[in-house]
Amino acid sequence: MSANPETTPDQSDFMECYRGRQSAVHHAAYLRMAKVLLALEVCARAGVRLEGKDIFDYGFGAGTFFRYCARDSRLFGVEMDRENVGAVEEMLRERGYQNLDLQTIDIARWTEHPLLGRKYDVILCSHVLEHLPDPAGFLKRIGECLHPAGVFIGLVPLNEIIMDPHHVQRLNEAKIRAFVESAGLRVTTYMEADPWLYWFQPLFTRDRGWVHQLAQVVSLGLGLPATLLGPRLWFALGRCFAFLTRSKPVQAAFILARP
Ligand SMILES: C[S@@+](CC[C@H](N)C(=O)[O-])C[C@H]1O[C@@H](n2cnc3c(N)ncnc32)[C@H](O)[C@@H]1O
Repeated sequence: MSANPETTPDQSDFMECYRGRQSAVHHAAYLRMAKVLLALEVCARAGVRLEGKDIFDYGFGAGTFFRYCARDSRLFGVEMDRENVGAVEEMLRERGYQNLDLQTIDIARWTEHPLLGRKYDVILCSHVLEHLPDPAGFLKRIGECLHPAGVFIGLVPLNEIIMDPHHVQRLNEAKIRAFVESAGLRVTTYMEADPWLYWFQPLFTRDRGWVHQLAQVVSLGLGLPATLLGPRLWFALGRCFAFLTRSKPVQAAFILARP
């Protein structure tokens, strides 16, 4: 199952967008931390632990999630940009992570990637499914990489006011559950959270210009307190914020297991 270039939307921005962005401030940006905090929260709810595990982050972006994995875990990941893959590996080694296997991936031939030839305890796909023409096919293939007791952690955007130009799927709980069922997996935990960027979301659909710069200011302004407060407090505050501002959750997180 390889992606058909005629139906796959242009993902070339991911070739360069993470370059030169490995400082602590970059990692504290809300666009990164919102995903990490939600992944940690759904793991806490489901009792999934990240110590001593084989963890595969498919499409790891800037590598922020790895910074929250235990140093005794073995970390695997794929991304498109060779320069970014090298920078993330260097950042993690400087932080004391030794067991790393990070590789580039050609998304036109992603099914043939060698890292899809082994099995993992935990697989994370954060904000990847909405980029794919066939999320069910993707889940089926990646589900084959789970150990029998392994778990898949999925994160996707919800309730986009303006659809991001890189997205090909507008997802909701019903669609997610249908994709999971047709992939032969089962949902063990599902949650929706994170209202903070609901009204700001249109700002985040631009890749350049002053609107993009404003979005970066918003992202940093929210990211710093979120990083300091941690997932429990941040999402509890989020419920009050959602009530007061009539904001909807902008992310869903779910844990999948083999049947
Ligand atoms: C928005 S980034 C997510 C980065 C990171 N996981 C995060 O949450 O910030 C989407 C990633 O999906 C992967 N991707 C995009 N299109 C794909 C496709 N058609 N097939 C497989 N992977 C794809 C790329 O690796 C890309 O970096």
